[in-house]
Amino acid sequence: MTLIKNICCIGAGFVGGPTMAVMASKCPDLFFHVVDINKKRIEAWNNKDLSKLPVFEPGLKEIITRTRNKNLFFSNEIKNAVESADIIFISVNTPTKTRGLGAGKSSDLKWVEACARQVAEFSKGDTIVVEKSTLPVRTAEVIQKILNSLDSESQGDTDIKNFSVLSNPEFLAEGTAIEDLENPDRVLIGGEDKSAMLLLSQIYENWIPKEKILFTNIWSSELAKLTSNAFLAQRVSSINSISAICEVTGANIKEVSRAIGRDSRIGSKFLDSGPGFGGSCFKKDILNLVYLAEYFGLEEVAKFWEEVVNINNWHQKRIAKIVVKKLFGSISQKKIVILGFAFKANTNDTRESAAIRICKDLIEEGAELVIHDPKVNPLQIEIDLEMKQFTEIKNESIDNSNKNYGSWTFSNHLNIFDNAHAVLVLTEWEDYKNIKWFNVQKKMAKPAWVFDSRSIVDVDLVKESGINLWCLGDGSSKDEISYF
Ligand code: UDX
Ligand code: ADP
Repeated sequence: MTLIKNICCIGAGFVGGPTMAVMASKCPDLFFHVVDINKKRIEAWNNKDLSKLPVFEPGLKEIITRTRNKNLFFSNEIKNAVESADIIFISVNTPTKTRGLGAGKSSDLKWVEACARQVAEFSKGDTIVVEKSTLPVRTAEVIQKILNSLDSESQGDTDIKNFSVLSNPEFLAEGTAIEDLENPDRVLIGGEDKSAMLLLSQIYENWIPKEKILFTNIWSSELAKLTSNAFLAQRVSSINSISAICEVTGANIKEVSRAIGRDSRIGSKFLDSGPGFGGSCFKKDILNLVYLAEYFGLEEVAKFWEEVVNINNWHQKRIAKIVVKKLFGSISQKKIVILGFAFKANTNDTRESAAIRICKDLIEEGAELVIHDPKVNPLQIEIDLEMKQFTEIKNESIDNSNKNYGSWTFSNHLNIFDNAHAVLVLTEWEDYKNIKWFNVQKKMAKPAWVFDSRSIVDVDLVKESGINLWCLGDGSSKDEISYF
């Protein structure tokens, strides 16, 4: 194959949608068909009202306006898109298995396998199949085997099919996806078939300097992606663990981060303490690494990486406990405002968000939560908390009054502080940095508390307003330390 014209991406999610949108904008001569089995998701991608796109990313709407229905198409027509494709990106979900062999650690590859079967059935001629989703090491081999075996079953066909499987993991972070795709630190292409690798590289060369495109063997590419995420998550767990030490010793995590970040060997990025890492990748990818290490009998390696996840779980639990403790040991029937439900700012994604565990714990303790988020859909919160909204819970509690669970409601306005005992900041949305705490204080129940897990509120304003403030990792208000 020498000429690439049609590109298909299976999976129109947080990765597939923005990635193909940016590629389409950078390669106006190529056609990009993004397909998905989920009809509603495709309808949302095709919605004229761009505020209804299924993924919120700064800059995405503008790119979709320029490319959609010109050289970027969203549809459920998987067969047609695969048939005409020269390159097929597989960008489907690969959640952690919940049952069977490897449950709780290894990735469920049923969607990847289903894709491989669709590709084997519908593709024609030479096709390059590219793993875009993060996958366990050696998945490319599985895909190649499925493609070859199904292809040999249909040898009666006159059409001869040839497949080259490449690994081309995506490193975009949500919230900065467009920026990351337009100007990545590197593009990684793993494979054995040099000509297929060069063809894929040529697409990226439309906007990315050649020296940023790295070629590796396929297993290194798959492992590099898992390792990148594991290293980043490890940094977050490291800084969060130190934040707990700051709180008891009188140190301040922001000062510690700034000081260690000046060491050029450490670097200043990814050193913000927060409520614990979320997102669809970190936990899943580390657990994949743990599973891989266990599978090959590397118990110590497995334990080392598993601890990064364990610390994250502990840290999320720790935050809910602090809130309860500061509010005199009971939050039953107390209104608590939750600022932010997304796993980080600038995304509507809540997968593995620290807010899920923290809110569940607070509800369990009987709190009445009012959750605010500028982009998250409350229906998603309902799924995440496995609990319907306030009114229905009240009805249920008639039958089950001894349970004494709390409740939650949702608002996307910030006029929600009336009679609140506490405000808990969980996502670092820009809006929360400019809250007028003096006005908020007048509305809150007393003593009023602000718990800031992202260190974003204006500390002076909160303190001047008379509200009690707890900032993650800030031990500076500690009066007495009895250590020595
Ligand atoms: C991550 C990787 O960064 C990206 O390369 C990969 O492709 C997918 O996984 P993402 O999960 O979208 O991206 O966001 P990221 O910015 O990495 O944040 C992950 C979590 O760590 C968030 O919950 C974030 O709030 C938290 N985090 C990040 C911190 O708590 N502190 C930091 O300093 C950085
Ligand atoms: P990611 O964050 O990796 O993009 P998402 O869950 O947001 O993950 O998106 C994955 C998408 O893949 C979903 O929209 C899902 O419907 C789609 N998908 C899964 N399996 C298939 C399949 N066999 N064919 C087409 N689309 C699929």
